[in-house]
Formats: sequence, structure tokens, C-alpha cells
Amino acid sequence: MRTKTATSKKSSTKTASKKSVAKKPASPNGKVDSMLADFFSDELKDIYWAEKHLVKTLPKMQKAATSEELKEAFADHLETTKGHVERLEEVFELLGKKAQAKKCDAMAGITEEGAGIIEETEKGTATRDVGLILAAQKVEHYEIATYGGLAQLARTLGYDEVADILETTLAEEKDADSLLTEIAENSVNYESSEEAEEE
Ligand SMILES: [Fe+2]
Ligand SMILES: [Fe+2]
Repeated sequence: MRTKTATSKKSSTKTASKKSVAKKPASPNGKVDSMLADFFSDELKDIYWAEKHLVKTLPKMQKAATSEELKEAFADHLETTKGHVERLEEVFELLGKKAQAKKCDAMAGITEEGAGIIEETEKGTATRDVGLILAAQKVEHYEIATYGGLAQLARTLGYDEVADILETTLAEEKDADSLLTEIAENSVNYESSEEAEEE
């Protein structure tokens, strides 16, 4: 999922000045750093990149959507997603780490697929909405898997406050997924099945 390539190194002056005071990174509940803790914070960087990427992607999906209901769902989830970015920043802070993003190839791929759907479907059609919902649900499911796993890991590591934060986001991703299912089932899928192919 991730490569070992380091993310861009910013000027090290900031970290250097901190060095004199720093002992161990202040992990919640005073747990010692471990390989698992490192893995955990690495995965946080991954989802942090993904959420920030979604803040840029959701407005495009909103613009491409046909039904008002779906447009509104994307607009709402954009605001929710901005909250997810902030929550992750809070998590980094609780762990005594700098918020850092690392490219998430999976999310880049899923959103690229979504962009392809917009390209391949006709503007103003319910069929495009069907495609957008499908793409958006793939995004939500990726997030659900990630937050579910990370919340569990946080508990294992004794980071209970962090786990609570991640679970709050997890619940919002599940809500978003359910809403998309509802929109598909209540209107969009049927409408698209009635759509004739353009000559
Ligand atoms: Fe999210
Ligand atoms: Fe989401």
C-alpha cells in the first residue's frame, strides 16, 4: 500500500530546536514506542493524505452529480470530511507527532476511477449518478476498513482517547455509506434504468 519513500523533508530547524527537551514521544497513557506504534502512526499518515485528497475530490463529485439529493449528500460529506482531517490532526497531536501526510495509493486509485466514471457518463443523467454513488461507496468502504482497523489498533496500544476519536469518524463514514445506499435505492437506480441510450 505504501512505499518506503520518505515524504518531502521540510527544513529541520523546527525539530532540531525541540530536540533538547524531547525525551520519548509523548504517547497517550505513557505507553512505550514499539514497532506496532510506528506502524500505527504510519497508517495515520496514509489516511490523513486520503482525507485531505477527498476534500479536493468531493466538490468535483458534487458538481458532476445530477440529482439534488446526491449533490447535497456530497456537499454535506465534504464538511464532514473536513472534520475528519481536523480529527486526525488532533490524533497526531495527542501522540506528540507532527501531522504528516503520505500518499495513499489506494485512495488515489479509487478517486481516479471516479474521475473516469464522470468522463465516461453523460452529464445530467441518472446513470452518471449511479456511477458516482458506486465510486463514492468504494471510498467510504475504504475509510470504514481503515478507521475500523486503526481504532482497534489504538485500543491495543492503549491509546483510548485516540480510539474514541477514530470511532467517531468511523460512525460518520458508515452513515455516509448508508445515505448513499438510500439515495441509490430510492431514486437514482430506478431512474437510470428508465434512461434510454443516446443515439
Ligand atoms: Fe472521512
Ligand atoms: Fe467518507
